[in-house]
Amino acid sequence: MELTRREQQMLNGELGEAVQQSMEILVALGKIYGAKSMIPISSSQVAGVSYKTIGDAGLEYLKDIAKKGARVGVPTFLNPAGMDRRQWRQLRIPAKFAKKQLEILRAYSKMGIMASCTCTPYLAGIRPKRGEHVAWSESSAVAFANSVLGARTNREGGPSALAAAICGVTPNYGLHLDENRVAGFVVRVEAELKTAADFGALGYAIGEMAKGRNVAFAGIKSASEDQLKSLGAAIAATGSTALFYVKGITPEYVEGEAAEEVAFTQRELEETKEKMGVPEQPQLVAIGCPHASIEEIREVAQLVKGKRLACDLWVCTARKNKERADRLGYTAAIEKAGGKIVADTCMVVCPIEDMGYRATATNSGKSAKYLPSMCGQKVVFGDLKDIIRVKK
Ligand code: F3S
Repeated sequence: MELTRREQQMLNGELGEAVQQSMEILVALGKIYGAKSMIPISSSQVAGVSYKTIGDAGLEYLKDIAKKGARVGVPTFLNPAGMDRRQWRQLRIPAKFAKKQLEILRAYSKMGIMASCTCTPYLAGIRPKRGEHVAWSESSAVAFANSVLGARTNREGGPSALAAAICGVTPNYGLHLDENRVAGFVVRVEAELKTAADFGALGYAIGEMAKGRNVAFAGIKSASEDQLKSLGAAIAATGSTALFYVKGITPEYVEGEAAEEVAFTQRELEETKEKMGVPEQPQLVAIGCPHASIEEIREVAQLVKGKRLACDLWVCTARKNKERADRLGYTAAIEKAGGKIVADTCMVVCPIEDMGYRATATNSGKSAKYLPSMCGQKVVFGDLKDIIRVKK
């Protein structure tokens, strides 16, 4: 790889051990993927925050690199942690877990990383522009950045995003390059998509079929940002697609000449939705995967206002959005009905299986994929208005 003088100094250890260790990671990655050089990034988003997913080994790595003087050189944001930093006691998070989680957050903050703890930094003020290079690691955020914003990022792992944040550069390969931003799988959508759950089901079905290729959707008449975030999260969860296009809607649209083409019909939509859940009585209804926008929180507040919920309800969101919801009265409406707005975490990376939950309802394709494997949950899948249950 061709390195600039400064990058070479980093690699030689002239800027300290933590920087050297980080540059070694980036150079190794660059060599594996055939990058010719590094490219500067404007921000980094680091996954690997929940104690549930990184455990003691991850915590020790973070403490060690923080102790070696690691400091980030670009604005850097965290993915959701394993608990709400303020409400963890009310949410019955085990104290032992909370102690470890707080240590992880302290190590990140020592490195100058903002404890935003959200998978939707683009809803909390960090929106890279079209063509801007970033190093993000949360798969749904990566899909959104590449597809909906037209920014450029590979699907980084937690350590490589952290290394990029420390060095301010990332290896220039994959989705940073024009030639790799061509769709190899085209979907003619014939189904009528109305809700975030419909878009999540489309992503759930197509992610499995696309097998990591970039996907182009044609035939979708309209889609809100929330619906696109649901689509991108699901497609990245069941496959490893990190870039999709929607004809007439996303800022870019490039179909490959030899792309495989399939149709997605109304029948397939209904069959997928059926396959994604079981007809169970949920103990928890979890909304906000990816983290809910203020519009989604408002929709939930309107649905439950003046009613009593039949089971627990969490609306997961970024802290900034929770604070907005507090000011707008949505939190009060949801809490009065018996629900909670939960910040900093989500239903998948929080240890809900240790909190007595066995069946969870969701309108998210990504959650439907991960709740069984990561949280031992039976999944009830459906549109928002069908899964929120109120007492008669
Ligand atoms: Fe975000 Fe958690 Fe879903 S990190 S995308 S809410 S699994």
